[in-house]
Amino acid sequence: HNLIFNNQTINRYKDTVFEAKGPKVEQLRKLKSSIENIQGCNLKKNATNIVFSDGNPNSQIMIIGEGPGANEDKEGYPFVGRAGILLDKMLLSIKLDRKKVYITNVVNFRPPENRSPTEKEIEIYLPYLNKHIQIIDPKILILLGSTALNTILGDIEVISKVRGKWFKKKIGNCEVFVIASFHPAFLMRQ
Ligand code: URA
Repeated sequence: HNLIFNNQTINRYKDTVFEAKGPKVEQLRKLKSSIENIQGCNLKKNATNIVFSDGNPNSQIMIIGEGPGANEDKEGYPFVGRAGILLDKMLLSIKLDRKKVYITNVVNFRPPENRSPTEKEIEIYLPYLNKHIQIIDPKILILLGSTALNTILGDIEVISKVRGKWFKKKIGNCEVFVIASFHPAFLMRQ
């Protein structure tokens, strides 16, 4: 039943990111390859696949989660497990399809046993995430959960206080409106 959504089968293996048109695709290919070549990172050593992104790189909406779980590690795409199914429903409730937005994570390799990435691990991936945001150059950045919130906006406040509030942030040359929301995995635990 996880493969059926809205009475349509989902081809989870169709790569929409690198099939998209426009100048961003080559930059994304280079970024993905530099993340694949990261040296000395334990997350990468323990992972099966890099989990780079999904969706439309030309979207004005970019969503950032925390890091891949077991399903994402197996399939190589973000948010394809249980949390992803809830994310799809959250998007559908505002008439958005996951293929119309752009989705990535703070770290691109699965932290073992579904733990959160450490500060040191986040530090390794942050320059790549910043580059990723600058390539996509979205109008709106949606941060799912406190790892994404703290990584992008710093330890400003707890997520329950800031969720739903808009922030303006400059990342390189890119000016974005940022909003945080609870992580779907957290919502499922409630
Ligand atoms: N949780 C995340 O933060 N990202 C994923 O890709 C999957 C689950």
